[in-house]
Amino acid sequence: MIKGSSCNMFYFRCVLFILFFAFSLDKVDLLENGMALTPPMGWMSWGYYMCSTKCEEDEDKCLDEKLILSVADSFYNEGYQEAGYEYIIIDDCWSERQRDENDRLVPDKRRFPRGMKFLADYIHAKGLKFGIYTNIANVTCMRYPGSYSHLDIDAQTFAEWGVDYLKVDGCFVTEDYLNVGYIELGHALNRTGRPMVYSCSWPYYIEYIHNNKPNYTEISKYCNMWRNYHDVQTSWDAILGIIQHYRSRYKELAPHHGPGHWNDPDMLIFGTGVLTHSQSRVHLAVLAMLSAPILLSCDMKKITPYEKKLLQNLDIIAVAQDPMGIMAQPYKLPDLWNGFVWVKPHLPKKGDQFPSYTFAFVNLDIDESEVSFTLSTYHLNNTDGYTVLDVFTGQFIRNVTYYETFEVTVPGVDVIMYTLYPL
Ligand SMILES: *[C@@H]1O[C@H](CO)[C@@H](O)[C@H](O)[C@H]1NC(C)=O
Ligand SMILES: *[C@@H]1O[C@H](CO)[C@@H](O)[C@H](O)[C@H]1NC(C)=O
Ligand SMILES: *[C@@H]1O[C@H](CO)[C@@H](O)[C@H](O)[C@H]1NC(C)=O
Ligand SMILES: *[C@@H]1O[C@H](CO)[C@@H](O)[C@H](O)[C@H]1NC(C)=O
Ligand SMILES: *[C@@H]1O[C@H](CO)[C@@H](O)[C@H](O)[C@H]1NC(C)=O
Repeated sequence: MIKGSSCNMFYFRCVLFILFFAFSLDKVDLLENGMALTPPMGWMSWGYYMCSTKCEEDEDKCLDEKLILSVADSFYNEGYQEAGYEYIIIDDCWSERQRDENDRLVPDKRRFPRGMKFLADYIHAKGLKFGIYTNIANVTCMRYPGSYSHLDIDAQTFAEWGVDYLKVDGCFVTEDYLNVGYIELGHALNRTGRPMVYSCSWPYYIEYIHNNKPNYTEISKYCNMWRNYHDVQTSWDAILGIIQHYRSRYKELAPHHGPGHWNDPDMLIFGTGVLTHSQSRVHLAVLAMLSAPILLSCDMKKITPYEKKLLQNLDIIAVAQDPMGIMAQPYKLPDLWNGFVWVKPHLPKKGDQFPSYTFAFVNLDIDESEVSFTLSTYHLNNTDGYTVLDVFTGQFIRNVTYYETFEVTVPGVDVIMYTLYPL
């Protein structure tokens, strides 16, 4: 017996070793910095503030220290932080036009008089996180100094400032350099020893500037998240474009999406006055269903009470931030002329077989539609059935079996979002 068990022990260790090895091989394929295990939530300056540096002309639209501090205050004081909003990210146009005598980037002295370390400390003291921006070329997209040939010194500078998140643009470089620069900057960030979410625009430039096909297997080895479609604009049409893009590219994008490595459809346009209530429901619902980063970009004071209620609806956030991080699959519904049902499995799971699911019926047509559907069509199979939560009203509306057909009325340009928990 003893001999036998030592042999078994050896066998067991062998198996462990093989398992470990297989596991590590599998793991080597993805960036392992421990960051962005759920998609980042927060605020980023670009969508609304862009390159607003003329502060004396427009005090209300000015990318400066006061703005960043005010976002931190509103996250902290108005319930956003408790709902999960965490990162406060300064995009392009934050630096002086020249590096200093030590070749370091310098924050604009007029707009950021106390520097970035001060901002990071303020943000960290509130339990929030700080992000900043650079480009892998000699200059940024708005022609401020870029990180080309300064990868280590810039990574080091960001680490010293206490940066937790770095957005890296890819303007003005060749395709070959995109495929090298992002990897090298990733190594430089790693060498600082400070974990930072690494947000790359790499696939966007490959596809839309260099007309080639991004290699997401490669990109997800180096980046925590990546932009792959046009910048959002403050218009409903831009949101429609993003929804159509993710719908039509589901098969290409979904396999590379998950904890630590996310497709990024860009910021929300809440707080800019361009969306109706139902459009804002569609906008947020689709981002949540995609397991996308949720980054606001607006004057926090201009978020309407209704938008705030949506942004802090914990049933939506639970879908958006689910630890499984699965991108919802879109299915065309015959009943919806211009619409889809997106289906996303998530926690909690009953045992190990029956996850919960959220269904989002998105109707982009102007007329309302009756949709009928059966859960088993979408692989739901819990024989005890499901209880159905209407995510927008917070009401449990009914229980269903997996084989019965049930009907949903979806108003024009709107979404019905149901979470089904296994009974
Ligand atoms: C940066 O500038 C140098 C010197 O002008 C040039 O050789 C190099 O190609 C530029 N790099 C990029 C990525 O644009
Ligand atoms: C650097 O990379 C190693 C190997 O992937 C990883 O274990 C470590 O957490 C990384 N460190 C940082 C600071 O990103
Ligand atoms: C994409 O990248 C992966 C991993 O880096 C590599 O093995 C594969 O050959 C690349 N695919 C193409 C089409 O270049
Ligand atoms: C139910 O579906 C899940 C997910 O597709 C699968 O893992 C499981 O084996 C199925 N269970 C039964 C009882 O069919
Ligand atoms: C669904 O079933 C559960 C468990 O049997 C029950 O407690 C609950 O009241 C039911 N909900 C509805 C809306 O019928």
